[in-house]
Amino acid sequence: MHDSLPDEMKYWHAIEKALRQLTKQYGYEEIRFPIVEETLLFKRTIGEVTDIVEKEMYEFIDRNGISLTLRPEGTAGCVRACIEHGLTYNQVQRLWYMGPMFRHERPQKGRYRQFYQFGLEAFGLEGPDIDAEIILFTLRLWRELGLSNIVKLNVNSIGTLPEREQYRQALVEYFSNHMTALDEDSQQRLQTNPLRILDSKNPAMAPLITNAPKMLTYLNQDSKKHFDDLCHILEKANIDFIVNPTLVRGLDYYTKTVFEWITDELGSQGTVCAGGRYDGLVELLGGKPSPAVGFAMGLERIIELMKIHSTVEPDLLDAYLLLVGEQAEQEGLHVAEKIREKNPCFRLMVHCGGGNFKRQFKCADKSGARLALILGEDEVNNNTISVKFLREDRPQVTLSREEFLNREWI
Ligand code: HAM
Repeated sequence: MHDSLPDEMKYWHAIEKALRQLTKQYGYEEIRFPIVEETLLFKRTIGEVTDIVEKEMYEFIDRNGISLTLRPEGTAGCVRACIEHGLTYNQVQRLWYMGPMFRHERPQKGRYRQFYQFGLEAFGLEGPDIDAEIILFTLRLWRELGLSNIVKLNVNSIGTLPEREQYRQALVEYFSNHMTALDEDSQQRLQTNPLRILDSKNPAMAPLITNAPKMLTYLNQDSKKHFDDLCHILEKANIDFIVNPTLVRGLDYYTKTVFEWITDELGSQGTVCAGGRYDGLVELLGGKPSPAVGFAMGLERIIELMKIHSTVEPDLLDAYLLLVGEQAEQEGLHVAEKIREKNPCFRLMVHCGGGNFKRQFKCADKSGARLALILGEDEVNNNTISVKFLREDRPQVTLSREEFLNREWI
């Protein structure tokens, strides 16, 4: 688990601002649900035989003897909350959330045990248009952040449960015929979750996986049309994407559309956003059947890309107020309050802790502020304030307080 220090915050604020703005533009509403849920919810949703449930959950018994888990992802809690409050009952919902998730993975750059996700979930719509909308939403984000050339969209369809069962059998047959070429991990997956073999990152497995049967040939007409229609909308929107037949996702709830936005700039942790359709999950968790589709993006990963490719201006102070002498120190905070009252957007830091002019001036310069406001003995006696321009070649001015308050400084 990692700390995010003030230096990095401009990126966090920029992406959060962009996301909030986009959710408004697209008409999505925020939902907040707990960080802790009953363990069973994640087991039933994500699937017993997945890396997350088998190896990565922060699971504990609470004081009532109930097994709880720190949420490893948001979809399960979101669906649980929607069912509990009747939000998906014969209704369309377009929702978003943002917050920390927890997975006990081996930490490395771009992979943390506590990480932040932004997620969208849309309920009650079964057509490919909504799948396309959430993809367009992400594309707009990449454009806003200057990352659209850095990430690439991969899409696939993994069909419905019966279609996938047929495909699973075909995969088992194929990989069983190549048992000796399978690495240890894949041999194990062959028994438990054969589709996940397609997800193997072992280069030695690549040729075998390339020649494996393809899910798309196991889709029935309805699923095939759904996928083709999605691809057409994406083509029409001029989105550069690839159909990746080995894209299967590591969570069990998906049906039909799956997609990932991938970059090759973050090494093995290159997936910055991932999601898909999960038409059976609301019913599985006890709700009235409702189709659904969504995605989540890892904010730390996107911020790593922003550090390289985005221009984000630091959130600098407008002014630093120096208080030189006892009288100024006594008056300073009140003067600052008046300034803030008059202009709420003015970013002003007051020097605290005393010290001579030279020391305070150094602090003003270091703060990054544009202006040093000086309140010394003369200024207190004459009801004035002096303004020094720290980043411009302009002479210092002394103004009456009234005049200072009435001038536009930003
Ligand atoms: P996921 O693929 O498990 O999907 O995670 C989504 C994104 O979260 C990943 O693409 C990655 O950017 C980020 N992420 C995952 N694990 C870590 C980690 N340990 N450290 C940093 N970032 C990480 C889901 O979570 C699904 N709930 C997405 C979804 C929503 N599908 C439908 N609706």
